[in-house]
Amino acid sequence: LEQLLEEQFEAVVARHERIEPRDWMPEGYRRTLVRQIAQHAHSEIIGMQPEGRWLTRAPSLRRKAVLLAKVQDEAGHGLYLYSACETLGVSRAELTEMLIDGRQKYSSIFNYPTLSYADVGTIGWLVDGAAICNQVPLCRTSYGPYGRAMIRVCKEESFHQRQGYELLMTMMAGTDEQRAMVQESVDRFWWPALMMFGPPDDASPNTARSLAWGIKRNTNDELRQKFVDMTVPQAERLGVTLPDPDLRWDEERGAHDFGQPDWDELTRVISGAGPCNAERIAHRRRAHEDGAWVREAASAFARATKEPGRD
Ligand code: 3HC
Repeated sequence: LEQLLEEQFEAVVARHERIEPRDWMPEGYRRTLVRQIAQHAHSEIIGMQPEGRWLTRAPSLRRKAVLLAKVQDEAGHGLYLYSACETLGVSRAELTEMLIDGRQKYSSIFNYPTLSYADVGTIGWLVDGAAICNQVPLCRTSYGPYGRAMIRVCKEESFHQRQGYELLMTMMAGTDEQRAMVQESVDRFWWPALMMFGPPDDASPNTARSLAWGIKRNTNDELRQKFVDMTVPQAERLGVTLPDPDLRWDEERGAHDFGQPDWDELTRVISGAGPCNAERIAHRRRAHEDGAWVREAASAFARATKEPGRD
């Protein structure tokens, strides 16, 4: 019977159709999904911190309202993805614990500080732009709840990217100081944004397996290349220089050649030695502890109002 179930699973994946929570699935497939969806959800939640820092410092009510909407969206994306992960039999309480005690990861990009207001624009333009390149193919991922969550996330991510780019366009039409602030911000975020796509394909232990299971639809390098090709003309239109002396258009390839990020830096940041790792986790732990009374009250209320015989 197990062999029949495995063949059915393989056939659904081969037809690029969806595996649903109640379908049989190899334990490795479930584990890989829990790992990736949890990391994705954690990234959205931790990702609120860098930008959240500028909510009280936004230069106008409009900028504050737009940033507030974006940060709230990220929270929603996180909860959406925790719900998708829970269909695989793990609870968000367990996932939060694994994030706080370092047993699960979140995207390296959120371990960099937001030192100027231009960073709010750069994060929208480059970080959410990279996230879009990575998340659009995930709309077609083989696991149903994850792919469906991505459809809504991608629609909101496009607004995030647009508002960031428009913010930078406004600053670039401003004073020399504003233009310098934008360039300095792009210089700090360009390489970390390229690292969001993961290590090079020949150093990625999970890609081959994730492609075979239809979890990933592209390799890390393919999506990185797509992001660079999409972003270079936007940088030219904006009037900023991307800090990569090896960046040039290759007519034959129909794509840009570009330099290699510092992979040792990515390894360091992933292993907890980035500029803001400790701060980000301490903040998340404090928020979790401060919110304990709300969770207890909600559980007490659910118990008190539970209809007899209903779960
Ligand atoms: N940050 C943190 N960890 C990373 C990483 C990064 N940028 N790149 C790779 N890693 C980790 C992987 O998790 C893996 O470690 P693990 O096996 O212990 O989990 C290891 O490094 C090797 O990398 P692989 O390429 O083999 O791992 P994956 O196949 O999982 O690919 C990934 C990495 C491309 C990030 C993939 O996990 C993925 O597509 N994740 C879902 C999308 C995502 O998380 N996007 C970025 C954050 S979401 C966001 O930006 C929100 C937006 O609103 C701003």
